Amino acid sequence: MTYTKIIGTGGYLPPTIFTNEDWEKRVETSDAWIKERSGILQRHIAGPEETASSMGAQAASAALAAAKRSPQDVQMVIVATGTPDRVFPATACLVQNKLQIPTCIAFDIQAACTGFIYALSIADQYIKAGVVDCALVIGTELMSRLIDWSDRTTCVLFGDGAGAVVLAASETPGILSTDLYAQGSYEDLLTVDKYIKMQGQKVFKIAVTKLGEMAQDVLQKHQLRSDQIDWLIPHQANIRIIKATADKLNLSLDKVICTVDRHSNTSSASIPLALDVAVRDGRVKPGQMLLFEAFGGGLTWGSALVKF
Ligand code: UT7
Repeated sequence: MTYTKIIGTGGYLPPTIFTNEDWEKRVETSDAWIKERSGILQRHIAGPEETASSMGAQAASAALAAAKRSPQDVQMVIVATGTPDRVFPATACLVQNKLQIPTCIAFDIQAACTGFIYALSIADQYIKAGVVDCALVIGTELMSRLIDWSDRTTCVLFGDGAGAVVLAASETPGILSTDLYAQGSYEDLLTVDKYIKMQGQKVFKIAVTKLGEMAQDVLQKHQLRSDQIDWLIPHQANIRIIKATADKLNLSLDKVICTVDRHSNTSSASIPLALDVAVRDGRVKPGQMLLFEAFGGGLTWGSALVKF
């Protein structure tokens, strides 16, 4: 049996940091409100020259180095993004070109903040089916270009960044399952016309319910107890949503990778960025059981259970 293993991780955060105090100078808000309602202390904001593909290429290059693979090994590039450089070519093709990856499969997918889980799931199917042996999955987002910088109900919540994983075929277990969901009847709750518009409280309530149910379903499907999960690596939208999901699983917060305080909500980049932080600081180790979960516009939600 062929499995898909995560063999390298990488991240990229733009150097410019925007603190809650910086937002206090621009809109009617306070560090105390942002911290209490979301858990966010700061976010990274891309410079004018940066793009989803430039940030994605940096994260992917770090992931390839960690995996000890070269661009020649990559047979598939999937980029999850809601902020592509252009309508086409796909950001994945631009990353392919930047990294000088030879002719391969390359495309973008759009599932808002759940995009990384969707992309991971697609790549997993290709690898398990024996179509490709090595894939790059990237989440990269320029949320600072989607926010209305005068709308305090959304602008303080989002940041920029990119995360990437290298996936490879393996005889030992890696990705154990992925579960994807979408419910388009909620299309108006979280949407971008020109800027992000969110009915925060409604999204919050649905997120807490769906993420809790989904996490419990995954455990049941695999007949796992929650104490067999080494790390919950959630989408980083709001510390209160993260805590509620951990509570449903009876997991203490010290078994949860949290980066929302420093990264804020980087949409599809948030899970691979959080994973990369925890791999590099030594918390996530080979052989551990990881549960990824995400929720976002669509509404979409999804999870991946991964033996790292
Ligand atoms: O990543 C995709 C998924 N997204 C999410 O999961 C986000 C889900 N939603 C949330 O995280 C939360 O709903 C928010 C953090 C967006 C908002 O927190 P909340 O506790 O739901 O606050 P609220 O929207 O109910 O607003 C409470 C009050 C309101 O004032 P009134 O009506 O009570 O007088 C808002 O006008 O807070 C006010 N407010 C603010 N005050 C200071 C809203 N934004 C701000 C702000 N600073 N930035």
